[in-house]
Amino acid sequence: MTDRIIPVLDERAALRVPAGAVVAADGHVADRLQRPLRDLRVSVTDRCNFRCTYCMPKEVFDKGYRFLPHADLLTFEEITRLARLFIAHGVEKIRLTGGEPLLRKDIERLIEMLARLRTRHGRPLDLTLTTNGSILARKARALAAAGLKRVTVSLDGLDDAVFRRLNDADFPVSAVLEGIAAAADAGLAPVKVNMVVKRGVNEHEIVPMARHFRGSGHIVRFIEFMDVGSSNGWRLDDVVPSREVIRRIDAEMPLEAVEPNYGGEVAERWRYRDGGGEIGVISSVTQAFCRDCTRARLSTEGRLYLCLFATGGYDLRQMLRAGADDARISAAIGSIWHVRGDRYSELRSEATAGLRKIEMSYIGG
Ligand code: GTP
Ligand code: 5AD
Ligand code: SF4
Ligand code: SF4
Repeated sequence: MTDRIIPVLDERAALRVPAGAVVAADGHVADRLQRPLRDLRVSVTDRCNFRCTYCMPKEVFDKGYRFLPHADLLTFEEITRLARLFIAHGVEKIRLTGGEPLLRKDIERLIEMLARLRTRHGRPLDLTLTTNGSILARKARALAAAGLKRVTVSLDGLDDAVFRRLNDADFPVSAVLEGIAAAADAGLAPVKVNMVVKRGVNEHEIVPMARHFRGSGHIVRFIEFMDVGSSNGWRLDDVVPSREVIRRIDAEMPLEAVEPNYGGEVAERWRYRDGGGEIGVISSVTQAFCRDCTRARLSTEGRLYLCLFATGGYDLRQMLRAGADDARISAAIGSIWHVRGDRYSELRSEATAGLRKIEMSYIGG
Protein backbone atom coordinates (compact mmCIF):
# COMPACT_ATOMS: atom_id res chain seq x y z
CA MET A 1 0.00 0.00 0.00
CA THR A 2 1.43 3.39 -0.93
CA ASP A 3 0.26 6.92 -0.26
CA ARG A 4 -0.48 7.53 -3.88
CA ILE A 5 -3.60 5.42 -4.33
CA ILE A 6 -5.49 7.34 -1.62
CA PRO A 7 -5.41 11.01 -2.44
CA VAL A 8 -5.75 13.15 0.65
CA LEU A 9 -7.93 16.03 -0.45
CA ASP A 10 -6.86 18.60 2.03
CA GLU A 11 -4.06 19.90 4.12
CA ARG A 12 -4.36 17.17 6.75
CA ALA A 13 -1.26 15.41 5.54
CA ALA A 14 -1.02 13.72 8.94
CA LEU A 15 -3.73 11.36 7.74
CA ARG A 16 -1.63 9.90 4.97
CA VAL A 17 -1.61 6.15 4.86
CA PRO A 18 1.79 4.75 5.80
CA ALA A 19 3.51 2.67 3.17
CA GLY A 20 3.17 -1.05 3.76
CA ALA A 21 0.33 -0.83 6.28
CA VAL A 22 -2.10 -3.33 4.78
CA VAL A 23 -4.80 -4.14 7.32
CA ALA A 24 -6.68 -7.41 6.88
CA ALA A 25 -10.47 -7.28 6.69
CA ASP A 26 -10.96 -9.65 9.63
CA GLY A 27 -13.51 -7.48 11.43
CA HIS A 28 -11.00 -6.24 13.98
CA VAL A 29 -9.39 -3.13 12.57
CA ALA A 30 -8.62 -0.61 15.33
CA ASP A 31 -7.45 2.98 15.04
CA ARG A 32 -4.57 4.64 16.91
CA LEU A 33 -6.78 5.07 19.98
CA GLN A 34 -7.84 1.39 19.84
CA ARG A 35 -11.32 2.23 18.60
CA PRO A 36 -12.94 -0.40 16.34
CA LEU A 37 -14.92 0.43 13.19
CA ARG A 38 -18.58 -0.35 13.90
CA ASP A 39 -20.81 2.32 12.34
CA LEU A 40 -20.98 3.65 8.83
CA ARG A 41 -23.00 6.79 8.18
CA VAL A 42 -23.74 7.27 4.50
CA SER A 43 -24.87 10.62 3.16
CA VAL A 44 -27.03 10.01 0.08
CA THR A 45 -27.70 13.61 -0.93
CA ASP A 46 -26.38 17.04 -0.01
CA ARG A 47 -29.78 18.62 -0.71
CA CYS A 48 -32.50 19.43 1.78
CA ASN A 49 -35.95 21.01 1.62
CA PHE A 50 -35.34 22.75 4.99
CA ARG A 51 -32.96 25.59 5.74
CA CYS A 52 -32.43 25.04 9.47
CA THR A 53 -30.65 28.12 10.68
CA TYR A 54 -28.04 26.07 12.55
CA CYS A 55 -27.29 23.80 9.59
CA MET A 56 -28.07 25.29 6.15
CA PRO A 57 -28.55 29.02 6.76
CA LYS A 58 -30.32 30.65 3.80
CA GLU A 59 -27.65 33.29 3.38
CA VAL A 60 -25.16 30.53 2.46
CA PHE A 61 -27.41 27.86 0.93
CA ASP A 62 -29.27 30.19 -1.43
CA LYS A 63 -30.16 29.94 -5.12
CA GLY A 64 -26.54 30.46 -6.08
CA TYR A 65 -25.27 27.55 -3.97
CA ARG A 66 -23.83 24.76 -6.10
CA PHE A 67 -25.05 21.37 -4.92
CA LEU A 68 -23.36 18.26 -6.29
CA PRO A 69 -24.32 17.30 -9.84
CA HIS A 70 -25.95 13.88 -10.14
CA ALA A 71 -22.96 12.27 -11.83
CA ASP A 72 -20.85 13.01 -8.76
CA LEU A 73 -23.11 11.06 -6.41
CA LEU A 74 -22.16 7.51 -5.55
CA THR A 75 -24.58 5.14 -7.26
CA PHE A 76 -26.54 2.64 -5.16
CA GLU A 77 -24.30 -0.12 -6.53
CA GLU A 78 -21.19 1.80 -5.45
CA ILE A 79 -22.61 2.46 -1.97
CA THR A 80 -23.57 -1.19 -1.53
CA ARG A 81 -20.18 -2.39 -2.68
CA LEU A 82 -18.41 -0.09 -0.22
CA ALA A 83 -20.84 -1.08 2.55
CA ARG A 84 -19.89 -4.73 2.03
CA LEU A 85 -16.21 -3.87 2.31
CA PHE A 86 -16.78 -1.81 5.46
CA ILE A 87 -18.74 -4.69 6.98
CA ALA A 88 -15.76 -6.98 6.47
CA HIS A 89 -13.79 -4.56 8.68
CA GLY A 90 -16.39 -4.77 11.46
CA VAL A 91 -19.29 -2.43 10.60
CA GLU A 92 -22.61 -3.57 12.10
CA LYS A 93 -24.75 -0.45 11.80
CA ILE A 94 -25.46 1.67 8.73
CA ARG A 95 -27.26 4.98 9.00
CA LEU A 96 -28.40 6.83 5.89
CA THR A 97 -28.21 10.60 6.20
CA GLY A 98 -28.21 13.68 3.98
CA GLY A 99 -29.07 16.53 3.59
CA GLU A 100 -32.48 14.96 3.64
CA PRO A 101 -32.04 11.29 2.64
CA LEU A 102 -35.68 10.79 1.63
CA LEU A 103 -35.14 13.28 -1.20
CA ARG A 104 -32.78 10.83 -2.93
CA LYS A 105 -34.72 9.25 -5.79
CA ASP A 106 -35.61 5.58 -5.25
CA ILE A 107 -34.02 5.47 -1.80
CA GLU A 108 -36.12 2.36 -1.11
CA ARG A 109 -34.06 0.50 -3.72
CA LEU A 110 -30.83 1.31 -1.87
CA ILE A 111 -32.42 0.17 1.39
CA GLU A 112 -33.40 -3.14 -0.23
CA MET A 113 -29.84 -3.63 -1.43
CA LEU A 114 -28.32 -2.84 1.99
CA ALA A 115 -30.89 -4.93 3.85
CA ARG A 116 -29.61 -8.01 2.01
CA LEU A 117 -26.12 -7.61 3.46
CA ARG A 118 -25.09 -9.54 6.58
CA THR A 119 -22.61 -8.65 9.31
CA ARG A 120 -19.56 -10.82 9.70
CA HIS A 121 -21.53 -12.75 12.34
CA GLY A 122 -24.19 -13.50 9.74
CA ARG A 123 -26.76 -11.13 11.26
CA PRO A 124 -28.79 -8.43 9.47
CA LEU A 125 -27.40 -4.92 9.80
CA ASP A 126 -28.86 -2.35 12.14
CA LEU A 127 -30.14 -0.31 9.20
CA THR A 128 -31.51 3.11 10.02
CA LEU A 129 -31.96 6.64 8.73
CA THR A 130 -32.03 10.22 10.04
CA THR A 131 -34.73 12.38 8.43
CA ASN A 132 -36.39 15.75 8.89
CA GLY A 133 -39.72 13.93 8.69
CA SER A 134 -41.18 16.16 6.00
CA ILE A 135 -42.16 13.34 3.64
CA LEU A 136 -42.01 10.49 6.11
CA ALA A 137 -45.80 10.10 6.40
CA ARG A 138 -46.05 8.98 2.79
CA LYS A 139 -42.77 7.04 2.72
CA ALA A 140 -42.82 5.09 6.01
CA ARG A 141 -44.55 1.95 4.75
CA ALA A 142 -42.34 1.58 1.69
CA LEU A 143 -39.21 2.15 3.79
CA ALA A 144 -40.19 -0.56 6.26
CA ALA A 145 -41.12 -2.93 3.43
CA ALA A 146 -37.69 -2.34 1.86
CA GLY A 147 -36.01 -3.52 5.07
CA LEU A 148 -35.33 -0.34 7.07
CA LYS A 149 -35.33 -1.15 10.80
CA ARG A 150 -35.95 2.22 12.47
CA VAL A 151 -35.75 5.99 11.97
CA THR A 152 -34.57 9.08 13.79
CA VAL A 153 -36.62 12.21 13.12
CA SER A 154 -35.38 15.75 13.75
CA LEU A 155 -37.87 18.08 15.46
CA ASP A 156 -36.68 21.21 17.25
CA GLY A 157 -39.86 22.21 19.05
CA LEU A 158 -43.62 21.79 19.25
CA ASP A 159 -44.49 25.45 18.97
CA ASP A 160 -45.35 25.92 15.31
CA ALA A 161 -43.98 29.45 15.04
CA VAL A 162 -40.68 28.46 16.67
CA PHE A 163 -40.31 25.38 14.46
CA ARG A 164 -41.14 27.25 11.25
CA ARG A 165 -38.56 29.88 12.15
CA LEU A 166 -35.91 27.26 12.83
CA ASN A 167 -36.48 25.21 9.67
CA ASP A 168 -36.79 28.50 7.72
CA ALA A 169 -38.91 26.73 5.11
CA ASP A 170 -42.24 27.51 6.77
CA PHE A 171 -42.76 23.81 7.46
CA PRO A 172 -45.39 22.96 10.10
CA VAL A 173 -44.91 20.80 13.19
CA SER A 174 -48.07 18.82 12.43
CA ALA A 175 -46.63 17.21 9.28
CA VAL A 176 -43.55 16.01 11.17
CA LEU A 177 -45.75 14.58 13.93
CA GLU A 178 -47.72 12.72 11.24
CA GLY A 179 -44.44 11.35 9.89
CA ILE A 180 -43.43 10.13 13.37
CA ALA A 181 -46.80 8.42 13.85
CA ALA A 182 -46.64 6.79 10.41
CA ALA A 183 -43.12 5.50 11.11
CA ALA A 184 -44.21 3.92 14.39
CA ASP A 185 -47.29 2.40 12.69
CA ALA A 186 -45.05 0.91 10.01
CA GLY A 187 -42.92 -0.75 12.71
CA LEU A 188 -39.90 1.58 12.39
CA ALA A 189 -39.73 1.68 16.17
CA PRO A 190 -38.71 2.92 18.58
CA VAL A 191 -38.70 6.25 16.77
CA LYS A 192 -36.02 8.59 18.08
CA VAL A 193 -36.73 12.32 17.93
CA ASN A 194 -33.72 14.65 17.80
CA MET A 195 -34.03 18.18 19.15
CA VAL A 196 -31.07 20.53 18.75
CA VAL A 197 -31.28 23.02 21.62
CA LYS A 198 -30.13 26.59 21.09
CA ARG A 199 -29.99 29.12 23.92
CA GLY A 200 -32.66 31.80 23.61
CA VAL A 201 -34.14 30.21 20.49
CA ASN A 202 -35.94 27.00 21.48
CA GLU A 203 -34.82 26.25 25.04
CA HIS A 204 -38.37 26.92 26.28
CA GLU A 205 -39.47 23.96 24.15
CA ILE A 206 -37.40 21.43 26.15
CA VAL A 207 -40.03 20.64 28.79
CA PRO A 208 -43.02 20.71 26.37
CA MET A 209 -41.18 18.26 24.07
CA ALA A 210 -40.45 15.93 26.99
CA ARG A 211 -44.07 16.19 28.18
CA HIS A 212 -45.49 15.55 24.71
CA PHE A 213 -43.47 12.41 23.98
CA ARG A 214 -43.59 10.97 27.50
CA GLY A 215 -45.48 7.68 27.39
CA SER A 216 -45.53 7.60 23.57
CA GLY A 217 -42.81 4.97 23.15
CA HIS A 218 -40.75 7.48 21.12
CA ILE A 219 -37.41 8.58 22.55
CA VAL A 220 -36.56 12.30 22.48
CA ARG A 221 -32.87 13.19 22.48
CA PHE A 222 -31.77 16.71 23.31
CA ILE A 223 -28.63 17.66 21.38
CA GLU A 224 -26.17 20.37 22.37
CA PHE A 225 -25.75 22.83 19.51
CA MET A 226 -22.37 21.99 17.97
CA ASP A 227 -19.72 23.92 16.10
CA VAL A 228 -19.95 21.73 13.01
CA GLY A 229 -19.14 23.29 9.65
CA SER A 230 -18.13 26.87 9.16
CA SER A 231 -21.40 28.57 8.33
CA ASN A 232 -23.68 28.33 11.37
CA GLY A 233 -22.14 31.13 13.43
CA TRP A 234 -21.68 28.89 16.47
CA ARG A 235 -20.86 30.47 19.83
CA LEU A 236 -20.37 28.69 23.13
CA ASP A 237 -23.00 31.01 24.64
CA ASP A 238 -25.61 29.39 22.34
CA VAL A 239 -25.11 25.97 23.94
CA VAL A 240 -27.52 24.75 26.60
CA PRO A 241 -25.53 22.13 28.54
CA SER A 242 -27.21 18.71 28.81
CA ARG A 243 -27.06 18.79 32.60
CA GLU A 244 -29.30 21.85 32.48
CA VAL A 245 -31.72 20.03 30.16
CA ILE A 246 -31.90 17.13 32.61
CA ARG A 247 -32.37 19.48 35.57
CA ARG A 248 -35.28 21.27 33.89
CA ILE A 249 -37.11 18.07 32.94
CA ASP A 250 -36.36 16.34 36.26
CA ALA A 251 -37.92 19.26 38.15
CA GLU A 252 -41.31 18.42 36.66
CA MET A 253 -40.96 14.74 35.71
CA PRO A 254 -38.39 12.98 37.92
CA LEU A 255 -35.66 11.11 36.04
CA GLU A 256 -33.03 8.47 36.76
CA ALA A 257 -29.96 7.51 34.76
CA VAL A 258 -29.96 4.32 32.64
CA GLU A 259 -26.98 2.20 31.53
CA PRO A 260 -25.95 2.56 27.86
CA ASN A 261 -27.37 0.07 25.33
CA TYR A 262 -23.90 -0.51 23.92
CA GLY A 263 -20.35 0.81 24.38
CA GLY A 264 -19.83 4.07 22.55
CA GLU A 265 -23.50 5.07 22.45
CA VAL A 266 -23.73 8.77 21.58
CA ALA A 267 -26.75 9.58 23.74
CA GLU A 268 -26.70 9.34 27.52
CA ARG A 269 -29.94 7.63 28.57
CA TRP A 270 -32.38 8.73 31.29
CA ARG A 271 -35.80 7.35 32.20
CA TYR A 272 -38.86 8.68 33.97
CA ARG A 273 -39.08 7.26 37.47
CA ASP A 274 -42.79 6.62 37.00
CA GLY A 275 -42.27 4.36 33.96
CA GLY A 276 -43.15 7.00 31.34
CA GLY A 277 -40.34 5.90 29.04
CA GLU A 278 -36.89 7.31 28.33
CA ILE A 279 -35.11 10.32 26.92
CA GLY A 280 -31.50 10.96 25.91
CA VAL A 281 -29.00 13.80 25.91
CA ILE A 282 -26.18 14.20 23.42
CA SER A 283 -23.42 16.29 24.95
CA SER A 284 -20.76 16.65 22.32
CA VAL A 285 -19.73 20.07 23.68
CA THR A 286 -19.79 19.65 27.45
CA GLN A 287 -18.93 15.93 27.65
CA ALA A 288 -17.15 14.78 24.53
CA PHE A 289 -17.51 11.10 23.63
CA CYS A 290 -14.60 10.69 21.21
CA ARG A 291 -12.96 8.02 23.35
CA ASP A 292 -15.50 5.47 22.11
CA CYS A 293 -16.15 6.89 18.64
CA THR A 294 -16.55 3.99 16.20
CA ARG A 295 -18.13 6.02 13.37
CA ALA A 296 -16.92 6.46 9.81
CA ARG A 297 -18.73 8.78 7.42
CA LEU A 298 -19.10 8.38 3.69
CA SER A 299 -20.04 11.57 1.88
CA THR A 300 -22.49 11.83 -1.01
CA GLU A 301 -19.70 11.80 -3.56
CA GLY A 302 -17.76 9.00 -1.92
CA ARG A 303 -15.23 10.59 0.37
CA LEU A 304 -14.41 8.85 3.61
CA TYR A 305 -14.37 11.16 6.64
CA LEU A 306 -13.08 9.99 9.99
CA CYS A 307 -14.65 12.70 12.12
CA LEU A 308 -17.75 14.89 12.01
CA PHE A 309 -15.40 17.85 12.31
CA ALA A 310 -12.90 16.78 9.67
CA THR A 311 -11.66 19.26 7.12
CA GLY A 312 -11.20 16.68 4.38
CA GLY A 313 -11.78 13.10 3.36
CA TYR A 314 -10.29 10.27 1.36
CA ASP A 315 -11.57 9.86 -2.18
CA LEU A 316 -12.96 6.31 -2.40
CA ARG A 317 -15.02 7.15 -5.48
CA GLN A 318 -11.85 7.81 -7.41
CA MET A 319 -10.68 4.30 -6.55
CA LEU A 320 -14.05 2.76 -7.46
CA ARG A 321 -14.23 4.51 -10.79
CA ALA A 322 -10.59 3.82 -11.64
CA GLY A 323 -11.41 0.11 -11.49
CA ALA A 324 -9.70 -0.83 -8.20
CA ASP A 325 -10.62 -4.34 -7.09
CA ASP A 326 -12.22 -5.21 -3.74
CA ALA A 327 -8.93 -6.24 -2.15
CA ARG A 328 -7.36 -2.90 -2.95
CA ILE A 329 -10.28 -0.81 -1.70
CA SER A 330 -10.59 -2.95 1.41
CA ALA A 331 -6.89 -2.49 2.15
CA ALA A 332 -7.31 1.26 1.73
CA ILE A 333 -10.26 1.37 4.15
CA GLY A 334 -8.37 -0.69 6.74
CA SER A 335 -5.23 1.38 6.41
CA ILE A 336 -7.06 4.69 6.67
CA TRP A 337 -8.88 3.56 9.83
CA HIS A 338 -5.69 2.13 11.27
CA VAL A 339 -4.00 5.55 11.37
CA ARG A 340 -7.07 7.49 12.54
CA GLY A 341 -6.45 9.63 15.60
CA ASP A 342 -9.39 12.08 15.45
CA ARG A 343 -10.94 13.33 18.68
CA TYR A 344 -12.09 16.78 17.75
CA SER A 345 -14.75 17.26 20.42
CA GLU A 346 -12.24 16.47 23.14
CA LEU A 347 -9.79 19.01 21.79
CA ARG A 348 -12.30 21.44 20.29
CA SER A 349 -11.02 24.85 19.22
CA GLU A 350 -7.39 24.09 19.97
CA ALA A 351 -7.42 21.55 17.17
CA THR A 352 -9.04 23.16 14.17
CA ALA A 353 -9.84 26.75 15.07
CA GLY A 354 -9.98 28.76 11.87
CA LEU A 355 -9.93 25.73 9.55
CA ARG A 356 -12.72 25.24 7.05
CA LYS A 357 -14.65 22.24 8.35
CA ILE A 358 -17.15 20.25 6.33
CA GLU A 359 -20.81 21.19 6.63
CA MET A 360 -23.33 19.06 8.54
CA SER A 361 -25.66 19.06 5.52
CA TYR A 362 -22.86 17.52 3.45
CA ILE A 363 -21.88 14.79 5.88
CA GLY A 364 -25.23 14.25 7.61
CA GLY A 365 -24.51 14.48 11.32
P1 GTP B 1 -28.56 5.35 17.66
O1 GTP B 1 -27.96 5.20 19.01
O2 GTP B 1 -28.31 4.21 16.75
O3 GTP B 1 -29.99 5.72 17.64
O4 GTP B 1 -27.80 6.49 16.87
P2 GTP B 1 -27.19 7.87 17.19
O5 GTP B 1 -27.27 8.21 18.63
O6 GTP B 1 -25.87 7.90 16.51
O7 GTP B 1 -28.21 8.82 16.51
P3 GTP B 1 -28.12 9.96 15.50
O8 GTP B 1 -27.50 9.55 14.27
O9 GTP B 1 -29.49 10.49 15.42
O10 GTP B 1 -27.14 11.00 16.19
C1 GTP B 1 -27.69 11.96 16.95
C2 GTP B 1 -26.89 13.22 16.87
O11 GTP B 1 -25.73 13.08 17.64
C3 GTP B 1 -26.39 13.60 15.49
O12 GTP B 1 -27.34 14.27 14.77
C4 GTP B 1 -25.25 14.49 15.83
O13 GTP B 1 -25.77 15.74 16.17
C5 GTP B 1 -24.70 13.82 17.07
N1 GTP B 1 -23.63 12.88 16.73
C6 GTP B 1 -23.77 11.63 16.19
N2 GTP B 1 -22.58 11.08 16.02
C7 GTP B 1 -21.67 11.98 16.44
C8 GTP B 1 -20.26 11.99 16.50
O14 GTP B 1 -19.59 11.05 16.11
N3 GTP B 1 -19.67 13.09 17.00
C9 GTP B 1 -20.37 14.14 17.43
N4 GTP B 1 -19.69 15.16 17.92
N5 GTP B 1 -21.70 14.19 17.39
C10 GTP B 1 -22.34 13.13 16.89
N1 5AD C 1 -25.44 20.86 16.26
C1 5AD C 1 -26.10 19.77 16.72
N2 5AD C 1 -26.87 19.00 15.94
C2 5AD C 1 -27.03 19.36 14.66
N3 5AD C 1 -27.75 18.81 13.67
C3 5AD C 1 -27.54 19.54 12.56
N4 5AD C 1 -26.71 20.57 12.80
C4 5AD C 1 -26.37 20.48 14.12
C5 5AD C 1 -25.56 21.26 14.99
N5 5AD C 1 -24.92 22.34 14.57
C6 5AD C 1 -28.60 17.63 13.83
C7 5AD C 1 -29.98 17.78 13.21
C8 5AD C 1 -30.35 16.35 12.94
C9 5AD C 1 -29.06 15.67 12.71
C10 5AD C 1 -28.85 15.28 11.30
O1 5AD C 1 -28.05 16.56 13.12
O2 5AD C 1 -30.91 18.33 14.02
O3 5AD C 1 -31.03 15.76 14.02
FE1 SF4 D 1 -31.95 19.77 6.47
FE2 SF4 D 1 -31.46 18.30 8.62
FE3 SF4 D 1 -29.84 20.33 8.00
FE4 SF4 D 1 -32.27 20.85 8.85
S1 SF4 D 1 -30.65 19.83 10.03
S2 SF4 D 1 -31.27 21.80 7.07
S3 SF4 D 1 -33.44 19.18 8.02
S4 SF4 D 1 -30.14 18.47 6.79
FE1 SF4 E 1 -16.10 10.96 16.74
FE2 SF4 E 1 -15.04 13.21 15.82
FE3 SF4 E 1 -17.44 13.19 17.02
FE4 SF4 E 1 -15.20 12.81 18.44
S1 SF4 E 1 -15.80 14.66 17.37
S2 SF4 E 1 -17.11 11.66 18.62
S3 SF4 E 1 -13.97 11.63 16.96
S4 SF4 E 1 -16.91 12.20 15.09
